[in-house]
This record gives sequence, C-alpha cells and structure tokens, in this order.
Amino acid sequence: MKSPLWILCTLLLCGLLLCNVTAADSSTKPNFVFMMVDDLGIGDLGCYGNTTIRTPNIDRLALEGVKLTQHIAAAPLCTPSRAAFLTGRYPIRSGMAAKGRMGVFLFTASSGGLPQEEITFAKAVKGQGYSTAVIGKWHLGLNCEESTDHCHHPNSHGFDYFYGTIMTHLRDCQPGHGSVLHHVHVHIPYKALGIGLVSLVLLHIRGTITVTRKVVFVFLVLVGVFVSLFGVLLYTFPNLNCFVMRGAEIVEQPYTSENLTQRMTSEAIEYLERNSQSPFLLFFSFIQVHTGLFASPLFRGKSQHGLYGDAVMEIDWSVGQIMQTLERLNLKQNTLVYMTSDQGPHLEEISIHGEMHGGYSSIYKAGKSTNWEGGIRIPGILHWPGVLPAGKVIDEPTSNMDIFPTVLNLAGASIPSDRVIDGHDLFPLLQGQVQRSEHEFMFHYCNAELNAVRWHPPNSSAIWKAFFFTPDFYPQNSSACFHTHICFCIKPFITFHDPPLLYDLSRDPSESTPLSPDTEPQFYSVLKVIRAAVSRHTQSLKPVPIQLSPLQILWKPWLQPCCSSLSQLCRCERDHQIDKLRH
Ligand SMILES: *[C@@H]1O[C@H](CO)[C@@H](O)[C@H](O)[C@H]1NC(C)=O
Ligand SMILES: *[C@@H]1O[C@H](CO)[C@@H](O)[C@H](O)[C@H]1NC(C)=O
Ligand SMILES: *[C@@H]1O[C@H](CO)[C@@H](O)[C@H](O)[C@H]1NC(C)=O
Ligand SMILES: *[C@@H]1O[C@H](CO)[C@@H](O)[C@H](O)[C@H]1NC(C)=O
Repeated sequence: MKSPLWILCTLLLCGLLLCNVTAADSSTKPNFVFMMVDDLGIGDLGCYGNTTIRTPNIDRLALEGVKLTQHIAAAPLCTPSRAAFLTGRYPIRSGMAAKGRMGVFLFTASSGGLPQEEITFAKAVKGQGYSTAVIGKWHLGLNCEESTDHCHHPNSHGFDYFYGTIMTHLRDCQPGHGSVLHHVHVHIPYKALGIGLVSLVLLHIRGTITVTRKVVFVFLVLVGVFVSLFGVLLYTFPNLNCFVMRGAEIVEQPYTSENLTQRMTSEAIEYLERNSQSPFLLFFSFIQVHTGLFASPLFRGKSQHGLYGDAVMEIDWSVGQIMQTLERLNLKQNTLVYMTSDQGPHLEEISIHGEMHGGYSSIYKAGKSTNWEGGIRIPGILHWPGVLPAGKVIDEPTSNMDIFPTVLNLAGASIPSDRVIDGHDLFPLLQGQVQRSEHEFMFHYCNAELNAVRWHPPNSSAIWKAFFFTPDFYPQNSSACFHTHICFCIKPFITFHDPPLLYDLSRDPSESTPLSPDTEPQFYSVLKVIRAAVSRHTQSLKPVPIQLSPLQILWKPWLQPCCSSLSQLCRCERDHQIDKLRH
C-alpha cells in the first residue's frame, strides 16, 4: 500500500506541521519563568545603559536573548499594571483602574481585587497540564466578604503554589523607616480637629447648639478617640499588612524584610527542583526595589548608589541563581524567561535619613505614577536559547500585556474569544518573522482616565504620543512632586490640554518639546486619527464593577487576616525554614 509518493506526502506534511510549532526543537511544552522587579527603573540596568551599577546576570540574559527598548507597562502603578500583565487586558476592562485618588491597594483588608471572571495566564495554562506558582508580591486583593474567603488570592486565580505577600512592600513594613500613612495622611488628625471646630462654631453661631463646657468635653473626647484610632492604625499597620503567606496560611506576621529576597530565591529554586519534570509557569515577583529599601548583609554597602543600588545588585544575584538552577536542571533550552519591572522608578522616594531611594529612568521623563515615558517604559528581556535570537534589540512598541497571548499560544491554550485581549503575541516579532509591532495604538490610563495615546502608523517610523492632560512634573524643579510623595496624575495635580500635547517619540524620546501646528505640518491630521482611535477604543469598553473605588479600598476590619489572637496583635512566626543561602 505504501507508495513512495504517499511517504513523501507524509514527510512533507510532518515537516510543515513541525515548522508551525514554535518550539520546533522539542515536542514538550515550554516552561515559563517570569521575573518582575518592583519599581525598577529602565536606567538601573547595565544592559539599558547604566555604567555604575553592576547587573551582570540580567545583562547576560539580554546578551543571550532579545531586549525590548520600547516595552510599555499598561499602567504606571503596581496594582493596575500587574492586573494587565496577568490578563493581557487594560486595567479599565477588569475594573482594576481607580475612580478616586488612590490607584493601588493599601490594606490587606480591602474588599477589591482581581475579579473571578478574569482569566490569568496561569488559569489558562493550568488546563494544558502546567504547574503554576507565584513567589513574591501579589497586590491584587485577597478577600471579598470574610477574612478567609480568599476570593482574590493567587490560588483563586490559577496559581497552585503561593509564597509571598498580599500587599506591596512599604516603608511601614520595616521598623525605623517611617510610614507612608504618616507621609500621606499626616494631615488627617489636624483636618478632623479643624473640621470639628469649624462645625462647632458654625452650629453655635446659628444657635443650633450652645457651646457649653459639656459640649466642648464631648467634642474633645470624640477627637481624642479619632486620633487614637488613627494612632493604633499607624502602630499596627505593619502587623496587619506586612505578612508572608504560604498557600492559604499566614506564616510570618509581620515579616522581617532582611533576607526576604534570599528566602524567596530559595523558594523559587525549590519550586523549580520539585517541578522540573512537568511543564511549569513560575511568576517570581520581587519585593525589592520598592521602598522601604532593604538588602541582605551580603549586599549592603556593595554598590555606589546606596541602599537602592545594593537592592538592585541583590535582585541581579537572584536572577543569576534562577538561571543557574535552570542550567543545572537542564531546563534552559526549554524555558522562556522574561524579565521586567511593573512600572517606572519612584523618583520622589527619599528615606527618613534623606537618602535618595528612587531609581533612574534614564533619558525618559518623570517616573512611576505618570504616563510620561519614565513612568511606563520598562525593561523587557526575553530569553530562550535556540528559539529566540541572541543579542537582538527590538525598538518597536510592545506591552507587558503581550505576555498573556504569547504564553497561551506557546502552551497550546486557546485565546479567550468572549472578551477583548489587548496584548499581541510577541513571537513573530521576537523571531523576526515580522518587523512591525501589532500595537498601532496604545492607550495610557491614569487610574480610570484616559491620559494619553500612542500611535505608531504602519507606514512611518513616527511614534506619536498625544496627552489630553499631563501631571505637573517639571524636570528643572522635580520637587514639584516631592511634597505629595508621588507625582499624581489626577486633579488638582494636572494640566489639561486642548488641543492635546503632541510629541513624536521617534525624534524626541525625552518628551522635551511639544509639537505645534507650526513645527509639525501633520499636527491636526495626526490628532484626527488619534481621536478616531479613542472613540473606537471607548466603544469597546464594557461597564464593570470598580475594584479600586474608595469603598473597595477602605480598610474593613472584618476582612483582616490575622494569624494569632487579637491580644497578640496578629503576630506569629510559623515558618521554621532555615535560610538555605546559595552563593
Ligand atoms: C545608574 O543607576 C543609579 C541608581 O538608579 C543612578 O543613580 C545612576 O545615575 C545610573 N547611572 C548611569 C550612568 O546611568
Ligand atoms: C540574614 O542572613 C545573614 C547571613 O547571611 C544572617 O547573619 C542574618 O542574621 C540574617 N538576618 C535575619 C534577620 O535573619
Ligand atoms: C500613512 O497612512 C495614513 C492613513 O493610515 C495617511 O493619512 C498618511 O498620509 C500616510 N502617510 C504617509 C507618509 O504615507
Ligand atoms: C516648577 O517650574 C514650573 C515652570 O518652570 C512652575 O510653573 C512651577 O510653579 C514650579 N513648581 C514649583 C513647586 O516650584
């Protein structure tokens, strides 16, 4: 029966099929290791031009893999950027974009979080036989209605294994480093006192009440109770918010940040060792280099840039440990490694001792919390020897939302068709099958407000960026943002622009000189195309519950996780893991 022609056809068919499989060198599914650093600036890494901090391990990743130079975070703040990263969708679509001033969760006992209906890449690949883990920072919520329902916990979002923190790291998590609450809300007790006094006087004038000694006494007691509650909140903040969980259990409350990256690295290495036989997806989400900064004794004082530089060096060490483990377990040829940051550096961070604790955004303007390039242009390195070219640099616009479809395609999972996915599969671009990014437009949100739009027309090298409003950040006196501790991109810290402020990033990557109809003949035609894109984009949005509304962000005592009785102030140390440091 078997004619030579038939065999030839079979061979041809096999060949064609094999060529279509991206991981042509292996029949097994690839593993994924994603490493995200918190608040790392694009200018902090050697491979992105830093000459004074040594990051040899990350630089090697770039040398052996693909480096993206226009890799854009979907949002300039942790919570929304991470929601977008995990789901491949703009945060506005999942409700993870704030309708208020605070754009991130500040308490573990908030009720908002990544909704159950969202599909993370972990959930998607689990159906394809993957083991999945997140080690490190989560910052996407915990509970909905009770202190143990864990509706937003990583385990409810497709991650089998979790070791890390629900919240972000903060200076409050480290004794002696001050408090963000103090910094941001120091005025609250005074405001309360002021408002109370003014109301009292007004009520007195209108004759509603007569201010007797008794009224003054009651008033003072009320203010006293309020200020004490505020004080208690400040005092217990670390216990209530800075804890480490293993799975569903709290194992360290509050945590000691010293050596935390070392412990997380050991956890990640053990995870890789345990799962080396099955396809796995590991999301290693560093607690560093968010403030309050820390570095373990091995790295303290090792850099030229104070504690910040030391922390970056420790991250680099950790990346090296992960890569060595992949090598030792013979997994390097079958693992896609991705290294990035969640947004730009927090430029306004100064420690209580006056040391600069924010990173460096290189030639890009401003940093975290703004949609100036410094707030959203992040490192993006992809590494897979034999499959991705070595030493390739791609300047096209890409997004941290692109990881979602890329992973699903590689793992053989189908892309959800019942919702808009904003990311695009990176592989054709990474492997050089196409030269242009599929991101013709990108929408840059400040919380739930559309702040700016980027347009990369298919027929030109221009990268237009139009701002409808801009945060009041001035490079010459960046102190403008220092008194608010961060450069807010909301009223009253912004300036509106009509017509929008237009830049061409291909000629002016630092956003130094806005274009005008006089300097740019295409000024109005570019804005017209951008406005049309905005209207198409806006029509694609469906109303969803806002997860970051003031009510959802609020501290709700009944949602407070606590590993001990209240009298012990939620303290415990249940993890008797010996630090297995590997150097
Ligand atoms: C390297 O990074 C540090 C820390 O962010 C920064 O202060 C310094 O200016 C950077 N150096 C160079 C040459 O880019
Ligand atoms: C951190 O690890 C070092 C050893 O590298 C040890 O001396 C130190 O006590 C550890 N710190 C804490 C807080 O456990
Ligand atoms: C590029 O295409 C746009 C429409 O997509 C058109 O308006 C514009 O004139 C074109 N520009 C060039 C340089 O061809
Ligand atoms: C910073 O500089 C700008 C323009 O140079 C000025 O309008 C603004 O008031 C300054 N802000 C502060 C806080 O000095």
